[in-house]
Amino acid sequence: MKDVIILALESSCDETACALVRNGREILSSKVASQIDVHTKYGGVVPEVASRIHIENISIIIKEALEEAKVSWDDIDGIAVTVGPGLIGSLHIGVLAAKTLAWAYHKPLIPVQHLTGHIYANAFVDELKFPLLALVVSGGHTELVLMKEDYDFEVLGTTQDDAVGEAYDKVGRVLNLPYPGGPKIDKLAKEGQPRYQLPKVHTDDPLNFSFSGLKSAVMQSLKRLERNNEELSVPDMCASFQEAALSHLWSRVETVLDEYEVRQVILAGGVAANSRLREICVERMKKHPGISYIIPPLAYCTDNAAMIGASGYIAYKKGIFADLDIEADPSLEMQ
Ligand code: KG4
Ligand code: ZN
Repeated sequence: MKDVIILALESSCDETACALVRNGREILSSKVASQIDVHTKYGGVVPEVASRIHIENISIIIKEALEEAKVSWDDIDGIAVTVGPGLIGSLHIGVLAAKTLAWAYHKPLIPVQHLTGHIYANAFVDELKFPLLALVVSGGHTELVLMKEDYDFEVLGTTQDDAVGEAYDKVGRVLNLPYPGGPKIDKLAKEGQPRYQLPKVHTDDPLNFSFSGLKSAVMQSLKRLERNNEELSVPDMCASFQEAALSHLWSRVETVLDEYEVRQVILAGGVAANSRLREICVERMKKHPGISYIIPPLAYCTDNAAMIGASGYIAYKKGIFADLDIEADPSLEMQ
């Protein structure tokens, strides 16, 4: 069978990325220009600044990805791009670039939903086995997704308030850690003990999530310590928050495994880079020897374009293409 090479673009938040992916599983090149240093100065992503930097970076990153992959335009079968969800101004730059390339080089345009990219990042490790359960954990989303086959996404549970990555970043802010708080909390928690008591999370539905109460509980603990003139141990608070947040996450995975037929569990999204979540997954899956699991490679957990190429490949095989008048959709759902 002829190889399918996809050029993929991702610009939904604060990473400008381009990748070339062969047959959905082999990364020929993957370039990411991160804007984290700029946004750290403001304590979070500033949308207008993000769009401006995407404009500055996108042609450079496309050129670099093409050079590294050593493919010519004749070899490329389609242009995949993140259409949503994300920041409208940021998405717009990637979509515009993808439409321009598709038009200029007469290639099909493949629309990709960002979270499906996070899910298909697992295809770089192993073949997906259905039915599978994807725990999608990022800065904007926390979702339990059941897939009975490729491109069949059933959302079983979601967050009632903050996404888990958002909670990490907000807790990071109250602990005066630089943005993004997630990786810093992960690191500091290793030096601490989960000795601060945080309440157990309750939700309306047994498969939903809630993280805003946990964030408030951390803030209340900080105030209490200050009132009592007790010294705060930041590593211990990081460890306490992390254990509470991750045990809440995993409790929902266990509920799905009890109630649904699942052959494989996969982690997806920026928070899948968390070292403790990766450890918990390995530990807890030992109790389910009949169910395989995949943890995506670290570099492909946070936003990148290779994952958009992996998902775009499946879309290509299914004949999912877009017209050149397609627009970015900041609240696009998985379908
Ligand atoms: O998937 P992603 O790169 O962007 C979105 O689509 O949202 O995820 C970014 C999120 C941020 O909230 C960041 O703090 C979190 O992933 N994150 C982590 C870790 N690395 C990134 N959270 C916890 N532990 C980490 N090691
Ligand atoms: Zn993402």
